Amino acid sequence: MTQASSQQQRDILVTSALPYANGPIHLGHLLEYIQTDIWVRYQNMRGHTCYYVCADDAHGTAIMLRAEREGITPERLIDRIREEHQQDFSGFHIRFDNYYTTHSEENRYFSEYIYRQLQKNGNIATRKITQSFDPEKNMFLADRFIKGTCPKCKADDQYGDNCEACGATYTPAELINPRSAVSGATPIEKESEHYFFKLPEFTDFLTQWTRSGALQPQVANKLAEWLDAGLQEWDISRDAPYFGFEIPDAPGKFFYVWLDAPIGYLASFKNFCNREDVDFEHFWKVDSKAEVYHFIGKDIINFHALFWPAMLHDAGFRTPTAVWAHGFVTVNGKKMSKSRGTFIMARTYLDHLNPEYLRYYFAAKLTGGVDDMDLNLEDFAARVNSDLVGKVVNIASRSAGFITKRFDGKLGTVTEHEKLKEFIEAGEDLEAFYEAREFGRAMRRIMELADIANQYVNDEQPWVVAKQEGQDEKLQAICTNALNMFHLLMTYLAPVLPETAKASEEFLNAKLDWNSRSERLEDHNISKFKPLMSRVDMAQIEKMLDASKEEMPAATGKPAQPAKSDNNEAISDEIEFDDFAKVDLRVVKIVKAEHVEGADKLLRLTLDLGHGERNVFAGIKSAYKPEDLEGRLTVMVANLKPRKMKFGMSEGMVLAAGPGGKDIFILSPDSGATPGMRVM
Ligand code: 2FM
Ligand code: ZN
Repeated sequence: MTQASSQQQRDILVTSALPYANGPIHLGHLLEYIQTDIWVRYQNMRGHTCYYVCADDAHGTAIMLRAEREGITPERLIDRIREEHQQDFSGFHIRFDNYYTTHSEENRYFSEYIYRQLQKNGNIATRKITQSFDPEKNMFLADRFIKGTCPKCKADDQYGDNCEACGATYTPAELINPRSAVSGATPIEKESEHYFFKLPEFTDFLTQWTRSGALQPQVANKLAEWLDAGLQEWDISRDAPYFGFEIPDAPGKFFYVWLDAPIGYLASFKNFCNREDVDFEHFWKVDSKAEVYHFIGKDIINFHALFWPAMLHDAGFRTPTAVWAHGFVTVNGKKMSKSRGTFIMARTYLDHLNPEYLRYYFAAKLTGGVDDMDLNLEDFAARVNSDLVGKVVNIASRSAGFITKRFDGKLGTVTEHEKLKEFIEAGEDLEAFYEAREFGRAMRRIMELADIANQYVNDEQPWVVAKQEGQDEKLQAICTNALNMFHLLMTYLAPVLPETAKASEEFLNAKLDWNSRSERLEDHNISKFKPLMSRVDMAQIEKMLDASKEEMPAATGKPAQPAKSDNNEAISDEIEFDDFAKVDLRVVKIVKAEHVEGADKLLRLTLDLGHGERNVFAGIKSAYKPEDLEGRLTVMVANLKPRKMKFGMSEGMVLAAGPGGKDIFILSPDSGATPGMRVM
């Protein structure tokens, strides 16, 4: 009998939070997608129907302004970013059934539909509110788009809602000398009509729903506090100019990005259902027997556990079976930081390390709770090396050679029945751990089994038996036992290590099938063993950190703060003419250009300024060969304070333009210029 027959087949829809279409995926994001992907792969392995959909969160002011700065349409920007996001995700083996965008017709349809239902039910209110307004840009300014001096500690250049220097929170009106981060203008106060969702009407419903088992206990307790404190109406409109969907019958008013973002889950799934001929209603109708789960970060709980279920309920859809929050990622015990090189982009990681290392490390440390997760890079290397390479893969590499060389690739008969029984039965504990997202406990249990398997090989010493006459059957049995253990270990690890699982299937010439795991591999031909995974080397990690540091914009050195709960991005202020006049731009001749040992992106340039030389590091290696630069003229910022970089002092900065990669262009002055000339 296979285990499959004893379980009920389930229909499951799973989502991860939709990343903003205004920046790259980094390791902080990846925790969530890896967690979700492992869970989904596990469910699929068990034979359940489990769909995983996601999308880019494409609307809002930040995206609109960024497109404007880049001189392109928001549509073009979001298409490009979606492409990048999809490449990053697939690099980490995140397997979505659909990856869509919130800027879609399906999403417009559902946003309008849900809004009209809420309106019909009397749950939309309108009233005038007063907000900060940029009189030059003619737009209302969210708090994050206002900067000024902190009223408490007097630190300059702080955002309108909180001070990064002293941690104070305040309203933009309290800022000293406030100005628009978009235009630099002094904001004025202006009134306009806004649309609100009457959340307080849903207090009873939410009190019951948040206690229904749909949330982790810690989260439910937090929400109980909010519910006790009383809910507020939720402002769901934004005034033009805004990149989003216009509200029906409300010209110039747009849905706030956070209204249509979760609706993007429905829209992405609908798009998938249309394409794959799947029954959308079956998943989303009230009293549906299907299950719906949202994986999210703990910073966006209010949107998913209050607004979203209330909206769904009011609009006649089922509510999620559960919303599961996780904590934040720190690196080496600290918030990710660009200057330390620990603000690591997905792409940078993939340039240096195997994605399965990270999948395993995250899995090994994940619980079903909301605790933060520290990625300690030394521990990361040690664990991957000792667990995956030293324990799991080792079992196969120690046994496979004998089978290939001595038995023509053929396994014999299993003799260690008790041990294998323990391995098979452990699957039941692992089922419970995977289901409850207790991946750390699952990994520990799997490594206990790996220890048993290694101990078995150590005790039996096949390399000694191999030298003894007449012991062929024994040798074949030892290796057969060990490889059957390996088969089970890889079956259990398959949701975490999809590529190694695939390679193991090829090697074992057998499927890794959870539900028929009690079937043994006996009298069975295997393929020649190829190394399944290599060790992590600290040098690769160092290189990745260096590359992350190099990516750091030369500017402020402020720690990057991904604004997770609002769709914002830091915008550089305009500068006064006097500030510009301080910049001493000079024509220089590149007298020498060289590679920098250990740097992936930098070249070392020796620049002749007419009256002396300067040493400057420039991130242009992807675009220029050193020899092509020597003798050329370019423009440099000559009075930039020297900066100590990892590879030495950089005494200035050369000006270059372009999107990056091969397309970086050194700005060259017109012919006739000579080194030392001032650029005006
Ligand atoms: O916090 C964020 O990054 C949001 N873009 C998440 C949206 S999740 C869902 F509601 F769409
Ligand atoms: Zn302050």
